[in-house]
Amino acid sequence: MRILLVGASGTLGTALHSELVERKHDVVTVSRTSGDLRYDVSDPAQVAEMYRTAGPFDAVASAAGHIPFGPVSELTVDDYQAAMTGKVLPQILLVREGLAHVTDSFTLITGMLAREAVPGGAAAALANGALEGWVRTAAVEIAPKRVNAISPTVFTESLDAYGDFFPGLKPVPLAEVTRAYVRSIEGRQTGQVYVP
Ligand SMILES: NC(=O)c1ccc[n+]([C@@H]2O[C@H](COP(=O)([O-])OP(=O)(O)OC[C@H]3O[C@@H](n4cnc5c(N)ncnc54)[C@H](OP(=O)(O)O)[C@@H]3O)[C@@H](O)[C@H]2O)c1
Repeated sequence: MRILLVGASGTLGTALHSELVERKHDVVTVSRTSGDLRYDVSDPAQVAEMYRTAGPFDAVASAAGHIPFGPVSELTVDDYQAAMTGKVLPQILLVREGLAHVTDSFTLITGMLAREAVPGGAAAALANGALEGWVRTAAVEIAPKRVNAISPTVFTESLDAYGDFFPGLKPVPLAEVTRAYVRSIEGRQTGQVYVP
């Protein structure tokens, strides 16, 4: 399949790129600062141009997103807006703008803070929960095109960076997270939230 991989230079994106290439997919990488293509997917005009220039694709896999962490008493309106513009709206745009350029599926990244309370993770809970709800409804509307979300806990490989936020929680190796993407991309299900 010809797959657009968004956020291919990140911790998750690097592992996902290797897995998809190993499975003989033709992968086109994009991020703001590296990859085959350079686009900021939080900008609707750039997303539209990206698809016009580089499409069509069989599938889109998103491994991008940034969310501020902090206590509820300190998170500002700007922080919550940053969670929306950093993670939610870019992935919605990838689907909305991609409908005319993607033949089969979209796989988005959310995270376990959609369902587990972790102090400091309120903005992430908002973003991940919003996306997972959106995916279920969007799947019904865009069929036979498909959309799924991958909702992992903290990656084993990210414990040094984020482990202090998740005391006692079992991390997930990136190999299991990338397997969930393969299930979404190569399988036939839609409207799913996969928890690797
Ligand atoms: N790390 C974890 O343990 C964990 C656990 C569960 C869920 N997640 C989720 O997984 C996703 C990836 O996490 P990660 O730790 O791999 O992040 P990361 O290492 O910071 O990588 C993020 C990637 O996305 C790209 N990117 C970010 N904003 C972009 C934009 N507006 N347009 C285009 N590309 C953009 C970055 O490249 P540029 O900076 O060059 O644009 C980079 O390639 C995030 O949504 C995160 O919330 C992470």
